[in-house]
Amino acid sequence: SSDLVPAVNQIELHPALQQRELRELHAAHSIATEAWSPLAQGAVLAEPAIADIAARHGRSPAQVVLRWHLQLGNVVIPKSVTPARIRENIDVFDFALSAEEMSALGGLDRGLRTGPDPDTLN
Ligand SMILES: NC(=O)c1ccc[n+]([C@@H]2O[C@H](COP(=O)([O-])OP(=O)(O)OC[C@H]3O[C@@H](n4cnc5c(N)ncnc54)[C@H](OP(=O)(O)O)[C@@H]3O)[C@@H](O)[C@H]2O)c1
Repeated sequence: SSDLVPAVNQIELHPALQQRELRELHAAHSIATEAWSPLAQGAVLAEPAIADIAARHGRSPAQVVLRWHLQLGNVVIPKSVTPARIRENIDVFDFALSAEEMSALGGLDRGLRTGPDPDTLN
């Protein structure tokens, strides 16, 4: 154990793995939450609820997911090798999700891990 509190904890985090308990712990200790695989490597982009919200805003599903992260206060760094997607992914600061939309996205947690579970990682 240590008295040193981390400044940031990077965890797998996206609408299909929302990590509520850990985010609350981070908030209580002023630890920034950084999402890895913030788009679930694309696995959440076909979710009908996300597509509906995207269509309502004239945005892409990826932009909706990134906006959800930002409104939760997460540090979010999506990865793309596609120039048009890189531009799209930074273009998320001129619209906002409503409380109803945030809560609809909040209902999409299904414990989906795209990477290793730290509790069982050898
Ligand atoms: N700490 C860790 O253990 C850990 C583990 C995994 C990742 N990470 C970090 O998290 C970063 C991102 O994670 P990740 O690459 O695993 O997953 P991600 O960012 O959730 O997803 C990347 C995938 O989504 C696609 N994509 C990106 N933007 C899109 C858009 N606007 N529309 C449609 N598809 C889009 C990309 O395709 P294209 O590239 O083909 O465009 C790529 O296949 C990594 O760069 C890494 O630094 C950390």
